[in-house]
Amino acid sequence: MKILNFGSCNIDYVYLLDHITSIGETETTQGMNILPGGKGLNQSIAITRAGNNVYHAGCIGEGGELLLDILKTNRVDISFIERVNTKNGHAIIQVSKDGDNSIFLYPGSNEMILRDHVDRVFASFSEGDLLLVQNEINNLDYIVKKAYQARMKIILNPSPCNEKIQQIDLNMISYLILNEIEVKEISKCENIQKALAYFREKFPDLKVMLTLGNKGCIYQDKKEQRFCPIFKVDAVDTTGAGDTFTGYFVAGIANGEKIEKILQIASCASAISVTREGAALSIPYIDEVMEKINCLETNDTDMKAEILRIKIEEYVDENLTDASLDGLADFLGYSSIYTGTLVKKITGETYKKFLQRKRLDVSATLLLQTELSIDEIIKMVGYDNASFFRRIFKEKYGITPLNYRKGQIK
Ligand code: RIB
Repeated sequence: MKILNFGSCNIDYVYLLDHITSIGETETTQGMNILPGGKGLNQSIAITRAGNNVYHAGCIGEGGELLLDILKTNRVDISFIERVNTKNGHAIIQVSKDGDNSIFLYPGSNEMILRDHVDRVFASFSEGDLLLVQNEINNLDYIVKKAYQARMKIILNPSPCNEKIQQIDLNMISYLILNEIEVKEISKCENIQKALAYFREKFPDLKVMLTLGNKGCIYQDKKEQRFCPIFKVDAVDTTGAGDTFTGYFVAGIANGEKIEKILQIASCASAISVTREGAALSIPYIDEVMEKINCLETNDTDMKAEILRIKIEEYVDENLTDASLDGLADFLGYSSIYTGTLVKKITGETYKKFLQRKRLDVSATLLLQTELSIDEIIKMVGYDNASFFRRIFKEKYGITPLNYRKGQIK
């Protein structure tokens, strides 16, 4: 099985700052680096550092020689990369002292991919081979269709997520690797479990790999959901962490590894990458990952708490009218007493307070966004006693439900 990565190659201009600059603010940088990057290039390097071979296809423009050099040094096959007479794509990256980043892109050469070029590349791949793509190149929908016609397995990382992704028929995709913002944007669901349910129902054959930053990751296919906690590290620069994860994930899939093992290795590789500056240069080799996998501590408790928080929210969202502690206990598979303690520990509120807050939040939204009568809303969110509802509503919002509705609509 061959792996083809059709993707971007960027020059990253990285600026080290105290914090991400706000609108209207001028901030002096504490340093700057010019580094190889681009989601495509980073992911190809992660694949080879994981120990696999990969063919990288795409375009390199003026000033992009350093990118070809790093790909070659990392054993990436560059025979499908074409040169174009345009400025190379680049990214302006701000990295804060906490390791967070903010990026904007100039696509340049990455948007010069011609259909002829795509056709030439796909002539060398066939059934069972893997295609990896992200959303930093042009002709993405054409590339996906060609791979589908060739019966290749397609792994899509819809990053950065924008309207181009809507053109892709997800029925053609085998694996979707995405983050919390992207999953919500594509599914149009604010709740993670609902977003995952959306994919399960609408695209039953699609395998979804959801990364949740410092909360870990969730893998879902039609049979199961698997969770993997993060490895605890001190973050220096998170740029490229998702690409490291993706590259290692793809390598694991290509090798036919078990999903638990793939998640663990990809998470560990991604954790190591955030301890170093830069994107491509921060990606660890497999030997280092295997050495550290048993030494680094995982944030199990946080992840379990996060999963439980998602489940508690899911139960209450789905059963707002007649939610009960016993019902939640049944849903989680615990005793009611233990469930009460758990809710307090995870949400910081008693079950009663938590439910009340959720009900009030929903009623406030319904007051503003619907024409339902206040009595209908009160019933819908699960209250029989209207005067009790009016009192707690006023305590929270400082005005009556009627004035809340009037005041906001006016
Ligand atoms: O995912 C990180 C990458 O995003 C950077 O290397 C930058 O080039 C942007 O494409």
